[in-house]
Amino acid sequence: MKEDVEDKITVSAPGKIILSGEHAVVYGKPAILAAINRRLFVSVRQSSKNEIITSESPKLAEFARDFVLKTFGKPREKLRIEISSEISIGCGMGSSAALAVATTAGLFKYLNKPFDKEKINEIAYEIEKKQHGNPSGGDNTISTYGGFLWFRKETEFLKLFKQLQFDLTKFVLINTGRPKETTGEMVLGVRKLYDKNRLKTEKILNEIEKTTKQLLVAFNQMDEKLIRITIRENERLLEKLEVISNFAKKIIRGIEKLGGAAKICGAGGKKKGSGIILAFHPQKDVLFELAKKKNLPAFEVKLGEEGVRIEKS
Ligand code: PMV
Repeated sequence: MKEDVEDKITVSAPGKIILSGEHAVVYGKPAILAAINRRLFVSVRQSSKNEIITSESPKLAEFARDFVLKTFGKPREKLRIEISSEISIGCGMGSSAALAVATTAGLFKYLNKPFDKEKINEIAYEIEKKQHGNPSGGDNTISTYGGFLWFRKETEFLKLFKQLQFDLTKFVLINTGRPKETTGEMVLGVRKLYDKNRLKTEKILNEIEKTTKQLLVAFNQMDEKLIRITIRENERLLEKLEVISNFAKKIIRGIEKLGGAAKICGAGGKKKGSGIILAFHPQKDVLFELAKKKNLPAFEVKLGEEGVRIEKS
């Protein structure tokens, strides 16, 4: 039996932010996603008993482990899996997708399977479904491939994406607090709105698609004015989907008054915290000062980072 620490395999997968298109992406609209320089690490080695060492979501890791082992016909394998993470949990930074991707990839490596990103992504998507019910698949795809992605789920079995190149540096992330609701609950909330008033909700989703396309053009040309206008429009539309709390809205209005723009960058939250907001301002210091005044954590991340990778094998 391999008990030596030297036999440990370590892989990592990045967190993400959604630059545009969250929620609408569940309805087949496009989204622009970026991998960030905060990663989740999974180490795997053989053991005499099954163990998961983590402060993350042990249940999801357990499900991921069992799912992958079953897929490869090795359900009785005994493993020690250690998980550590730089990604805040439940704030819209893709911690659960990174966990699904890195656990899957770690087990691929452990079982000597080819490090096939398409297959890893497919399995991670199944694991995400367990966590969220009806995810778009965008989070696991960006965590697998990294960089910037234009992503669209055409149907359950056809998800199209294209890598993009941008040089985005004028963003600051502000944490408005961990939402009380899960991503699954937020997605369900929008579904209820859709079922109750289909025409009106479809109109909002179509408008979000327009802003996503407009943001693509704005990023491409590095048109700061258009970036600001588009983020503001996108935020207003997300507010119409009722996924942002009054608390977070106030912070966002404050940023707009100072000449900037901001939006949530994940599922959001209605009660108090709406997770991380993506804030844009030509002078980033203005955003840090505002966050300090409101006593909210603010930080910068590098966007467009590498996807899942082997750290040690
Ligand atoms: O908050 P997060 O990181 O779980 O992002 C969810 C993004 C949604 O568009 C709301 C759902 C999805 O599956 O794409």
